[in-house]
Amino acid sequence: MKTYHPNGTNNLKWWQKATFYQIYPRSFQDTNGDGIGDLQGIINRLDYLVDLGIDAIWISPIFPSPMADFGYDVADYCDIHPMFGDLDTFDRLLAEAHGRNLKIILDYVPNHSSHQHPWFLESRSSRQNPRRDWYIWQDAKADGSPPNNWEAFFGGSAWEWDELTQQYYLHTFLPEQPDLNWRNPEVVEAMYNVLRFWLDRGVDGFRVDAIICLMKDEQFRDNPAVQPGSFWARWGNQLEPRYTMHLPETRQQIRQMRQVLDEYEDRVHIGETSAPEYIDLMPYYGDPLDGYDIPFNFNTLNAPWYAAGMRALIEDYYAVLPPGGWPNFVFGNHDVHRLATRYGHENHRSVGMLLLTLWGIPTMYYGDEIGMEDVFIPLEQRIDPWGINKPETDLGRDPERTPMQWNSSPNAGFTTGKPWLPLADNYTQVNVAAQLADEGSTLNFYKKLLRLRRSLPALHNGSFTFVDGQGDDLLAYQREANGQRLLVCLNFGAAERTIDLSHLTNRAETLLSTHFTNHSGTTFTLRPHESILLQLN
Ligand code: GLC
Repeated sequence: MKTYHPNGTNNLKWWQKATFYQIYPRSFQDTNGDGIGDLQGIINRLDYLVDLGIDAIWISPIFPSPMADFGYDVADYCDIHPMFGDLDTFDRLLAEAHGRNLKIILDYVPNHSSHQHPWFLESRSSRQNPRRDWYIWQDAKADGSPPNNWEAFFGGSAWEWDELTQQYYLHTFLPEQPDLNWRNPEVVEAMYNVLRFWLDRGVDGFRVDAIICLMKDEQFRDNPAVQPGSFWARWGNQLEPRYTMHLPETRQQIRQMRQVLDEYEDRVHIGETSAPEYIDLMPYYGDPLDGYDIPFNFNTLNAPWYAAGMRALIEDYYAVLPPGGWPNFVFGNHDVHRLATRYGHENHRSVGMLLLTLWGIPTMYYGDEIGMEDVFIPLEQRIDPWGINKPETDLGRDPERTPMQWNSSPNAGFTTGKPWLPLADNYTQVNVAAQLADEGSTLNFYKKLLRLRRSLPALHNGSFTFVDGQGDDLLAYQREANGQRLLVCLNFGAAERTIDLSHLTNRAETLLSTHFTNHSGTTFTLRPHESILLQLN
């Protein structure tokens, strides 16, 4: 029986103890009636977030943008989109959040800008423009076709022809998102100054977008075809991104970005990293730990929902962490379907139990704390370009980005206008106000669990050991610190299951159950899909 993180660590950094909460700003709270959330809306809801019990807010992009990719196409890295507010509102948000001990993390999008960014407008204006080389331009092949076979993540070729200057430019995502040329030192310096602009204002760190794509093969070699059934095939890709992702040169850039953050005190560096195999994620911690504090672990986004599969996913991860590397878990974000939809309504509290009791930093997605589900959006009403460009797939992201459900009033208290995406039909029952009033609600489950996670060192810093031999549907593990022993047990099955703990304790007591059951003793019978957190005496 292997124990992970056996000794605990003294003097944890703030982010090692923190729970992160992602706000998709267009959908959190509107205050000016345009149907789109704004920064004042986030300010108005800070007390809710304090009451929920999270520590840090990561806000998806709020910068000026033509919104081709809903803000991930940035037209000015150092300002706020008027739709969200202005720099004064942002400064107020920072001050109000810090006054409540909440940290603010911004999204930083280095791989590409908007095609409307003044840098790109200059770059495409002529081949002689001093900013020409700030983006990635290549000649057509002799027959006029793109320079190589690279495909864009959101469909089609990654190359767009520019009629005026008679060359192709590279876009890993949409044509409206041209890739910056990070082999040009002027780009590097300008983009580091963007970090400094926000760090000077007082932001507590960055979540760095699409970092695995940052550097591309200097020789522009063709990518090989995907193997059927491989990880990449799942994303609707035709090619394996051998020459367009995870290039070793990217790690050098990450190290340097990290040095910029280290010019300031106590800032957190989070990377949007993902790799089919955990082993390929580890280099993003840096060597030794000079890369990301939190290289996002997305392997749990499509986790198999059965006990042995989940155990393997956790064990495989812990087994390859570098010395001192701190794990993290993500079960939901703005790019994948809602966790209550993916794992099933009956399991969504158990996902929360896992997320908040495993050893590792949790990142929550707004609305998951009330069990929000995907909203079905018919093809003709889709607005996410990924969903529109790849209609044959289920990759469209509108369903998981719908407005937060605050109460049962019209438009769920999100807006007085017309919401930019439809609200869930169930919002009159599934909303914050209703769940605050219901002791047995999902929201009250999360609130209790977040308080336990914060107050019990065993949960945020304790050792982690699986408890073997509990049969097929049960997953059980112990967390232990300073003599306090906790045990978590999840029933993945649709039938009652009993766990016998007599070899571990004389008496255990329930601290929290997904079903709010309350037992003590040495054997516990879990209801179908129930998870429990116990204190072992
Ligand atoms: C990241 C973001 C996603 C965005 C893409 C391009 O994967 O999470 O929402 O569309 O990068 O910026």
